[in-house]
Amino acid sequence: MTYSIEVNQLKKSFGTLEVLKQVSFNVAPGEVIAVIGPSGSGKSTMLRSLVHLEDITGGTIRIQNQSLVEDGRYTGATEIRKITDRMGMVFQHFNLFPHLTVQANLELAPKTLKKESTKAIRTRSMELLAKVGLSDKADAYPANLSGGQKQRVAIARALMMQPDILLFDEPTSALDPELTGEVLRVIKKLAQENMTMMIVTHEMSFARDVADRVFFMDNGEIAEEGPPEQIFGAPKLARTKTFLQRVDMEE
Ligand SMILES: Nc1ncnc2c1ncn2[C@@H]1O[C@H](COP(=O)(O)OP(=O)(O)O)[C@@H](O)[C@H]1O
Ligand SMILES: [Mg+2]
Repeated sequence: MTYSIEVNQLKKSFGTLEVLKQVSFNVAPGEVIAVIGPSGSGKSTMLRSLVHLEDITGGTIRIQNQSLVEDGRYTGATEIRKITDRMGMVFQHFNLFPHLTVQANLELAPKTLKKESTKAIRTRSMELLAKVGLSDKADAYPANLSGGQKQRVAIARALMMQPDILLFDEPTSALDPELTGEVLRVIKKLAQENMTMMIVTHEMSFARDVADRVFFMDNGEIAEEGPPEQIFGAPKLARTKTFLQRVDMEE
């Protein structure tokens, strides 16, 4: 079996603070994983570790059978770059370049790489703007977009690099409730196209709807994982139940 993501005994500390303790999991190609859990449980650190935004303290991460880090030892910088170039990440705060139009935001990274013609890049940016429903905003600046539109631009921008794997870190947490739906619909469309994804989210009904498996993180570990029907319908651990009840009350 070739996995898209293989993580074994991943450990991460910040100084003396142990944030991830022996996290292990696999993600199959085309699988959609929802990651849920309380604030501070290590969800962001885990995603950031996968794309080498964090240096892990120990353990193994393989992406599409390529070793990013093996037993705490990282592969070379060129290899790391090759591996992480196949992955896209979308953050809670959209991180768009304010001085560039929407279309220029999409085209910047591919143009910098200079591996494709300007025309090919333009064709793709038009297609992706259409896909996220923003064809009419190509020449707009981020300041003139709603939060939901900005996040859809950020998703289109990540897709410009034609990633094999997409990671989302609370993509709707910064949005007004009435704007989350339009972003979740785009992510759901990607799931239906079999994009391999890990999505950290507080949107439990979305997780239930879109995920093949749900990871419940607590205190630096994946405390419980399983299909959404099980995690939401019949959680095994008391702490999973407690978390879900608390989230339910907030909604
Ligand atoms: N750069 C950092 N330096 C020190 N501590 C950090 C850093 N990043 C995260 N942490 C700590 O690691 C823990 C897990 O954080 P995080 O992965 O952001 O959790 P989550 O995304 O689940 O809320 C928290 O206690 C947080 O304060
Ligand atoms: Mg986080």
